[in-house]
Amino acid sequence: MKILVVGKGGREHALVRALSESPGKPQLYCFPGSDAIATLAKPVSVDGLESLIAWMKSNGIDLCVAGEESYLVKGEGLSNLCAKEGIACWGPPKESAQLEASKEFAKEFLVRHKIPTARATATATLDEAVAAIAGEYPTVLKFDGLAAGKGVAVCASENEAMDFLDEVFTQQRFGPGRVLVEQCLTGPEVSVFAAIVDDDYLIFTPARDYKRAQDGDHGPNTGGMGAVASRQLVSPELMQTIEREIVRPTVEGLRREGLPYRGFLYFGLMLTPSGPQVIEYNCRFGDPECQAVMPLVKGDLAAFCHAGAKGELRGDLLSFDEGWSVCVVLASAGYPETSRSGDRISGLDVAGDCRVYHAGTRLNADGQWETAGGRVLAVVCGAETREKAVNAAHLAADGIRFDGLQRRRDIGILHFGSENP
Ligand code: AMP
Ligand code: GLY
Repeated sequence: MKILVVGKGGREHALVRALSESPGKPQLYCFPGSDAIATLAKPVSVDGLESLIAWMKSNGIDLCVAGEESYLVKGEGLSNLCAKEGIACWGPPKESAQLEASKEFAKEFLVRHKIPTARATATATLDEAVAAIAGEYPTVLKFDGLAAGKGVAVCASENEAMDFLDEVFTQQRFGPGRVLVEQCLTGPEVSVFAAIVDDDYLIFTPARDYKRAQDGDHGPNTGGMGAVASRQLVSPELMQTIEREIVRPTVEGLRREGLPYRGFLYFGLMLTPSGPQVIEYNCRFGDPECQAVMPLVKGDLAAFCHAGAKGELRGDLLSFDEGWSVCVVLASAGYPETSRSGDRISGLDVAGDCRVYHAGTRLNADGQWETAGGRVLAVVCGAETREKAVNAAHLAADGIRFDGLQRRRDIGILHFGSENP
């Protein structure tokens, strides 16, 4: 089987590695990929989506796996274009990917299907947003479009809200667009992933990510500084509630609205005192949650995605390790405001079962790895207990060095008090 994975980050490195370990030993290709991904999957150098589709067609690609969301909604949409050419695609068509691409679309979908979520008002101008906030702080402001994880601000005060609204409406930092003013929820967060095939689904191991740059959840929001994954993150009773109140109504809602879906759907949830509520949908796996979850997935991921993309949910092809997996992200100097490139990386040969996924690296002219982006690496270790996985991941991360390296020391530790598992 020939599989092409679309994307270039740590999530795609983890997906490609999991696919490469599938028993059928698929031939792997990537677009655009990275130097690290290229060690497992052949990069395809074409210009743009249309050329990529033509390349897949003429090279007999059996399955296209969408790692990154942007291609799903670009132009006619990756999955739509694949469908036209008869190429199986694991990732939803453009119309369904609006669940991620438009927060307003997602909010209306949630409300229509009575899925628990925070109250929100859509606003088109700074004045409308200020009126919708109505002096109630904290408030949550969300730019209504793809903003690479930077389009959400949890604002404790009027000053913070005005700064964000100024960036969106006056400076148009993310381009033109509306803002959702949302009720601020509280509680631990959990990311639940389902593989959806039409009206069927399989829930993968849940995870929790750490979005703030610094220990103790301080500092600015980032793309994610680490993650912890385990079946044990969510009790069986709570998972049943999540399935009954959130996952199933979402799958049924998609079907009722004629929105086709074959691919991963990410449910960003907040476990509030009155039950789990949806904060967001993403039409792909999480990053860095994917890096934490993939080592727990056993079986044949390649055959699973291929069957799924062709309309058959083959849960029998996969099983999930019961243990824990901890992912520690190593970021470059200045991240997330800026990122520095070109720092030599040493110590990449980690011991034991740990894995290092590359998010922002490149090979220099001497064939050595150097930094090439904000988030550079993700170090992932698994064990039967959270404590063991935490220790192994941080120990492995200690061995990797580059100038300006930043990481959190509390990944897998913070948010695990007596109230949480
Ligand atoms: P998102 O990009 O939608 O995942 O939002 C980024 C982060 O903002 C989430 O992981 C939450 O920590 C926070 N957030 C989003 N919506 C809310 C909300 N309604 N209440 C509290 N925090 C939120
Ligand atoms: N870890 C958050 C995301 O992938 O959107």
